[in-house]
Amino acid sequence: MMRAAVLGHPISHSLSPLLHGHWLQHYGISGKYEAIDTPPELLAERLSQLNEKGYQGVNLTVPLKQQVLPLLDTISPLAERIGAVNTLTFKDGQLHGENTDAFGFVENLHQAVENLAPFLHQAVVLGAGGASRAVVAGLLQAGAESILLLNRSRDKADALAQMDERIHTAEWANRNEALQGATLLVNTTSLGMQGQPALEIDLSALPQSALVTDIVYQPLITPLLQAAKQRGNPIVDGLGMLIYQAVPAFEQFFGTRPEVTSALRETLL
Ligand code: ATR
Repeated sequence: MMRAAVLGHPISHSLSPLLHGHWLQHYGISGKYEAIDTPPELLAERLSQLNEKGYQGVNLTVPLKQQVLPLLDTISPLAERIGAVNTLTFKDGQLHGENTDAFGFVENLHQAVENLAPFLHQAVVLGAGGASRAVVAGLLQAGAESILLLNRSRDKADALAQMDERIHTAEWANRNEALQGATLLVNTTSLGMQGQPALEIDLSALPQSALVTDIVYQPLITPLLQAAKQRGNPIVDGLGMLIYQAVPAFEQFFGTRPEVTSALRETLL
C-alpha cells in the first residue's frame, strides 16, 4: 500500500488528510494519507522512520517548511528560490524537496479568471512571510511585470525583493495609496483570519477592475474579499490555493494527477 502524510506542529487542524483521502477514495487507490504531529526537534528522526517504512513522501507545514532544508539530498530550483519545502519525496531513499504552494496560488487564479495576463501588470502583495515568498515566486513565474510588496516590518519586504528586480517595496503605512493603478491585490498576512485582527485597508484607490485575492480561507470570504466584492472588484477566495497545492503532491505520492471538483470543495467547507 502506498503511504504519505502531512507533518507539522500542531497538525490537528490540517485539511490535507481530508483532501488526499477524498482523491484516494475517488480513484480507488489503495493508499493512506495521515497527519503526524511532528515537533521540529523530531523531524530528522521522523523522516528517516517514514523513509525506512517505505512511505512515498510527505507534505510539510508550519513550522517545518524551512527547517527541513538542511536534511534534504536534493531540492527543486523553485523550492530553493522560495526557501521552503512543502512536498518531500523519498526517491530511492533520497530526500527530495519541492514547493507546490507557488503553483497552488497561481493555478487557483487561473481557474477563476479566463485570462490572467491582464491582472499581472501591477500586483500589490501585502505581507512578506513564508506564504508571501511562495506567492511572489508564483507571480514572477506566471509573468508578473511588477510587484509592489508591503510588509509591517519593511526589512522583510526588502529582503524578499532580492528575489527579482521586478519587485519593489513600500511602507506598510502607505498601503491605501499603494493600490493606485494595481491590477491585482493579494493578502498573504494572517490579518482577517478567524481569531486574528482585521486587515485595515481602504480600497478607494484600487481600480474596480483589479482582481482581489486572500490566502486566508477561514473565513472563506474575509472582510477584505467582502469589501472588494461590495465595490465591484472580482475576487478569488483562498481555499483553492490549498486544494491546488495538493494536486502535484498527490500525483507524486500516488501516481495519479487528481481532478478538482466542486464536490471536493464542499467536503472541505
Ligand atoms: P506565513 O508563513 O503564513 O506567511 P509568517 O511567516 O509568520 O506566516 O508571516 C506572517 C505575515 O503576516 C507577515 O508578513 C507579518 O508581518 P511582519 O513580518 O511584520 O511580522 C504579517 N502580520 C502578522 N500580524 C500582523 C499585524 N498585526 N499587522 C501587520 N502585519 C501582520
